[in-house]
Amino acid sequence: MSGFQKGFLRHLAQTSDAPIALEIERANGSWLITREGRRYLDFIAGIGVSALGHGHPAVLEALAAQAARHLHVMVYGEYVLEAQVALASRLAELLPSPIDRVYFTNSGAEAIEGALKTARKHTGKPAWAAFDGAYHGDTLGALALAGNPGFRAPFQPLPGPVVHLPYDDERALAKLDASVSAVVVEPVQAEGGVRIPAAQFMRALRRRCDELGALLVFDEVLTGFGRTGKLFALEHFGVTPDIVVLAKALGGGLPLGAFCAPSAVLKTLSRDPPLGHITTFGGHPLSCATGLAALEFIAANRLWERARRAGERLLDRLRELADAKRVRAVRGIGFLLGMEFTSAQLARRFVEKTIAGGVVVNWTLNADNVVRLAPPLTISDEEIDFALAVMRKALGALRGR
Ligand SMILES: Cc1ncc(COP(=O)(O)O)c(C=O)c1O
Repeated sequence: MSGFQKGFLRHLAQTSDAPIALEIERANGSWLITREGRRYLDFIAGIGVSALGHGHPAVLEALAAQAARHLHVMVYGEYVLEAQVALASRLAELLPSPIDRVYFTNSGAEAIEGALKTARKHTGKPAWAAFDGAYHGDTLGALALAGNPGFRAPFQPLPGPVVHLPYDDERALAKLDASVSAVVVEPVQAEGGVRIPAAQFMRALRRRCDELGALLVFDEVLTGFGRTGKLFALEHFGVTPDIVVLAKALGGGLPLGAFCAPSAVLKTLSRDPPLGHITTFGGHPLSCATGLAALEFIAANRLWERARRAGERLLDRLRELADAKRVRAVRGIGFLLGMEFTSAQLARRFVEKTIAGGVVVNWTLNADNVVRLAPPLTISDEEIDFALAVMRKALGALRGR
């Protein structure tokens, strides 16, 4: 064990007893390189952040140019900063009308908190609704929405009231009532085990929110920026939400989140009282500059189409590899795929063997028998074939035991 690995275990607060603990020296393209020079294919893109892989020249150039001009100069919302204005304007162009305004945050959870507060204040109603299996982050409000009661339990009492409903179940929407200010939903549940809902469910949810005067909040933190084969996953459903929450790939590899909504909704945050929802670092100029560079690269190269086509091929190959005794289902949309094993233990062993073979994958938080695959949008066919060869071997090793 190196000195840094010892220091990692000794001085960094741990999030589990079993961290992956790869000691990353450098990262380039789709690859992570450890201190000993071992190369690992990043088949989860830093959990959805590194849409362009690592060290993309467009991102590094934007980072250097912005760093040369200025870093932090003032808390969010006071000065006119070109990097923020340019990214917000581009998002307003690309998101469906009437969404035309962006509030920048530091992270996904913080953007969810902003959306919850906005919904409560804008509608004057107290409650929120969310779905079983959901993951929206770990601050108290976001955690209150979590669809896994085991993660909520140690932190009660959490903000609320929150109504939890089964995901992708149109009939259960009848349980929503007029006290709900916002329904928060992932267009595809990633941590819930890569669950892809029916378009009909999303349309019914839109109708139900309209009936009740509740805001529909799409959490596109993981699904945004081409991951699912569209620039935003909302395009799969023909539904326009009231608020879109973004993070992860939004910053092009730097920390950045946002909640985006029509001006008529977001204006509630600037009055009664003014300065009632503020942040110091939200929309950091470096993150906005790198985020815009990444977004322009994704848009210019229509990388969502690459994710859709290469994702379909990956899905087909994985279905050929998987044997029904150990893998119950393989599903996916674009470059967000899930392999559902018949047990959590098999999923864990598959992950261990795949990482040992040089490809980083992981299981999902709320469905520990599902392994998630989410490579960078820029990954090459040869790199995907390498991952498939490693996964074929890992599956073979599971059969051998
Ligand atoms: C769908 C979704 N929403 C929200 C979050 C929280 O984002 P952050 O970790 O930046 O707070 C995540 C993080 O994994 C996520 O996947």
